[in-house]
Amino acid sequence: MKAIITGGAGFLGSHLCDLLLLKGHEVICVDNLITGSAQNIEHIESDRFTYLEHDVTKPLYFGDRIDYVFHLASPASPIDYFALPIQTLKVGALGTYNMLGLAKEHAARFLLASTSEVYGDPLVNPQPETYWGNVNPIGPRGVYDEAKRYGEAITMAYHRYHGMDTRIARIFNTYGPRMRAGDGRVVPNFINQALRGEDLTVYGDGSQTRSFCYVSDLVDGLFRLMMSDFSDPVNIGNPGEMTVLEFAEVVVGIIGSDSRVVFEDLPVDDPKVRRPDISRAKDVLGWEPVVGLEEGLKETIRYFEKPIRGSY
Ligand SMILES: NC(=O)c1ccc[n+]([C@@H]2O[C@H](COP(=O)([O-])OP(=O)(O)OC[C@H]3O[C@@H](n4cnc5c(N)ncnc54)[C@H](O)[C@@H]3O)[C@@H](O)[C@H]2O)c1
Repeated sequence: MKAIITGGAGFLGSHLCDLLLLKGHEVICVDNLITGSAQNIEHIESDRFTYLEHDVTKPLYFGDRIDYVFHLASPASPIDYFALPIQTLKVGALGTYNMLGLAKEHAARFLLASTSEVYGDPLVNPQPETYWGNVNPIGPRGVYDEAKRYGEAITMAYHRYHGMDTRIARIFNTYGPRMRAGDGRVVPNFINQALRGEDLTVYGDGSQTRSFCYVSDLVDGLFRLMMSDFSDPVNIGNPGEMTVLEFAEVVVGIIGSDSRVVFEDLPVDDPKVRRPDISRAKDVLGWEPVVGLEEGLKETIRYFEKPIRGSY
């Protein structure tokens, strides 16, 4: 089978490239490197792998057969989408439109990498797929949340109107090797601060909750969803929930640093709780995460201590 992975040189996309190659598929990785890095895929030597530098907000045509389109291209961390608000909206809207068009032309199956951010600052915890969310469309996070909500809407429209075979993965916080040290997300932040013996920056009072999924579990969930026959959204994430303060203690404990915690202002519209209800993923995909937090964190810490490429 031949698959396109947009955003394939990013954190999740590069692990998905590895997984598909491991399973014997052909992979075309399409990326414009706006937040990704060629280093994330430099370990790949397979002749079933092709890299194409391209901005998916511009149309893309292939003469050869394409069977699957995994559409992951999008800035994903708040630091990135605050700095790139228009690019984020464009890749969610034009990029998704273009990739749906490409999939339609090839009668290929299409998967959208959506996000738990479609639930905004949720009034329901844990969040099931049936919850419609609580998003501020005009706040600074709106550029990401609404781009993804639009992406879901156009994906369902192509499914209903054109009868296309589509999938929507609502991805919750994921961590692992190949995250960027400075991408502002809590896992690389805490690990790198603790490794340097610096204080850990907690936004707000640290009582907000998060749940963390290890990257190998996440890409396994994406693959299973693509191979399923289910076209409604599916949450993919780890239901283990903890406060940010508790998470800081876990990181400091594993690294054995004497870092303390310092508090800074909570960003606008920061979600107070975040935990996936994964009943649907269990029922439909037979999927649930298998990597424990300590195991996943140790692997991620090793990556930040001494970069190891291609260790998937
Ligand atoms: N990592 C998470 O915890 C998480 C959570 C929810 C959703 N997601 C979604 O998963 C996907 C991947 O996230 P990630 O964490 O790997 O982020 P990332 O920034 O590491 O990867 C995104 C990739 O998309 C590429 N890209 C962005 N705009 C593009 C464009 N116009 N054309 C071509 N390539 C473009 C970037 O260069 C990058 O390589 C995103 O769609 C994100 O919204 C991730």
